[in-house]
Amino acid sequence: MSASDLHTPQTAEGHLRVPAESKAPYDAATEARLRADAAQVIARYPIKRSALLPLLHLVQSEDGYVSGRGIALCADLLELETAEVSGVATFYTQYKRHPNGDYTVGVCTNTLCAIMGGDLIWERLSEHLGVGHDETTPDGKITLERVECNAACDYAPVVMANWEFFDNQTPESATRLVDDLQAGREVVPTRGADTVATFKQVSRVLAGFLDGRADEGVGAGPASVLGLKIAHERGWSAPASADEAREHAAQDASPVGEAGGLAHGLRESTDSHANAPDEKPGEATSTRKEGEQ
Ligand code: FES
Repeated sequence: MSASDLHTPQTAEGHLRVPAESKAPYDAATEARLRADAAQVIARYPIKRSALLPLLHLVQSEDGYVSGRGIALCADLLELETAEVSGVATFYTQYKRHPNGDYTVGVCTNTLCAIMGGDLIWERLSEHLGVGHDETTPDGKITLERVECNAACDYAPVVMANWEFFDNQTPESATRLVDDLQAGREVVPTRGADTVATFKQVSRVLAGFLDGRADEGVGAGPASVLGLKIAHERGWSAPASADEAREHAAQDASPVGEAGGLAHGLRESTDSHANAPDEKPGEATSTRKEGEQ
């Protein structure tokens, strides 16, 4: 590595360099504040080691990643080895071992989004920002990620900025989004909260300290609830569970039940009995009446 490499903000892998203070203890005031917050989190769990996941988010809310000193603090608070804390922090992708950008921009390249344009969006953003998956721009603003389904397939292709939805994106709209985030201009998600919080702010929410924005904006848009709307219009309901089917079959065997025609909880195209849990292929289930196919 040359001397000039040491002064670049990124490593060869495209991560921001871990600062020297990563393993230095917190100053007294910061540590006292973190310990007070951690006490509130730990009090929510019957066994204190269960608080590790939110405490790692708390560390990220302070340092912007899971720092060495954050790992030491978690280990001390929860009476764990630092290796145990590290093992958890390196398992989940939401925990960052290098300083994260202010905004994690996640491009869904899973099947539906990919064929609707997600792959093109990814290529455009990666080229535009000059970073690849899990890499951060040198200005520390954006960490780019490929995401395997944002759970918003009905608005594909979807991009998320710090887990806020930007639906029905194009390469052009996604490029504008990252330009605005880098320039510090306000961006408005298409659903959910009215603004995009920073990575540190969101990390504090994930640690369990609410920011009052949970009920902002529209949650499920029209495309998300279209199936429910059609079901209501047509009077459809979900098929009965196996237990309910057995119970209703017993009722159907009575003269009153058989007079109704359909089994309770089963309607039109869903008029088939659920399999019994121990039923094998080709076996008649106890929920079926004799002679029924
Ligand atoms: S496939 Fe992209 S949100 Fe589900």
